[in-house]
Amino acid sequence: MKTLGLAGLGTMGSGIAQIFAEKGYMVIAVEPADELLQKGMKRISSSLDRKVQKGKMTEDEKKQVMERITFTTSLQELSKADLFIEAVSENYEIKAKLLKELDGICKPEIIFATNTSSISITKLAANTKRADKFIGMHFFNPVPVMKLVEVVRGIATNDETVHTVIELAKQLEKSPIEVNDFPGFISNRILMPMINEAIFSYMEGVATAEAIDSVMKLGMNHPMGPLELADFIGLDVCLDILEVLYDGFRDPKYRPCPVLKKLVNAGFLGRKSGRGFYNYSA
Ligand code: CAA
Repeated sequence: MKTLGLAGLGTMGSGIAQIFAEKGYMVIAVEPADELLQKGMKRISSSLDRKVQKGKMTEDEKKQVMERITFTTSLQELSKADLFIEAVSENYEIKAKLLKELDGICKPEIIFATNTSSISITKLAANTKRADKFIGMHFFNPVPVMKLVEVVRGIATNDETVHTVIELAKQLEKSPIEVNDFPGFISNRILMPMINEAIFSYMEGVATAEAIDSVMKLGMNHPMGPLELADFIGLDVCLDILEVLYDGFRDPKYRPCPVLKKLVNAGFLGRKSGRGFYNYSA
C-alpha cells in the first residue's frame, strides 16, 4: 500500500491525512468544494506547525509531508488509491451515496474503511460489492495524539481485511483494538451515555457545567470533563451518535437529553461554532 484515498477533510479526515503522510504514504484527499479543501489544508498545516514549534519536526520535513497530500475535488482521482478511508459527515445517506459511487471508481481489490463513530459497518458495507473488504477504522480526536484505533468487523468482513488494517494501524504507531459491529461499537456505547448523563445533570441543576467537568477531571482523572469533551467532539456529532444508539437498541437509557437537542438546534455545536456548553469566541 502506497497511496491512501481519503474522502472528507474535516477534523478527523485532516488528522488521518496528516498521520498517513507523516509515515510516508501518498494521500489523495477529496472534498466536494475548494473552500473545504482549503480549510482542511490549513488544519493540517497548523497541526504540523505545533510539531515544528516544539522542535519535533523541521520546516523542511513539514513541507515534505504537505507535498505528499494531493487536495482534489475529483472523485475519479481515487482510482489510484491502494486503500480508501471514508471520513465524511456522520450521516448514513451521505456516506451510502459516496460509497456506492466510489465502489465503481476505486480498484475492486482495495479495502474500504470507514471512520464512522457509530453507524453500522454491515449496513454501510451493503452499499458496495466488497463487503468482505469493508471495515471500520475508527480514529479518535485529536488523531495525531490519540493512540486508539477501534477496528470494527462487519458481518461479512474477512480475516485478511482485519489483519491488514490491524497491521496498518500499528505501522501508524496506533493501538488497534478489534470489536464487533454493534451500535456505537465500544467507545461510543460507553462514552456517550456518560456525556448524556452529564448533560441531564446540568439540565436538572445538580451542578454548573464547570463543576460537573471539575468533578470528572479531579475525581476520575479524565483529561477533559464530559461537557468540555462534548464541545470538543461537536454537539451535533454527540447527538447523531446518541440517536444511533437510541434507534439501534430502542432502549430509553440512550435518549438524547433535550438540552443537547436545543443547543444543536440553536447552532451551538461546541468549539467549532464558537459556542456550546462554553463560550469560545474569545
Ligand atoms: N492536533 C495535534 N496535536 C495536538 C492537538 C491537536 N488538535 N491538541 C493537542 N495536541 C498535542 C500537543 O501538541 C501536545 O503534544 P506534545 O505532548 O508532543 O507536546 C499534546 O497533544 C498535549 O497537548 P497540550 O499539552 O496542548 O494539552 P493537553 O495536555 O490539555 O491535551 C488533549 C490536549 C490531548 C486534547 C487532552 O485534553 C485529551 O486527551 N482530551 C480528551 C480527548 C478525547 O477524549 N478524545 C476522544 C474524543 S471521542 C472521539 O474522538 C471519537 C468519537 O467517535 C466521538
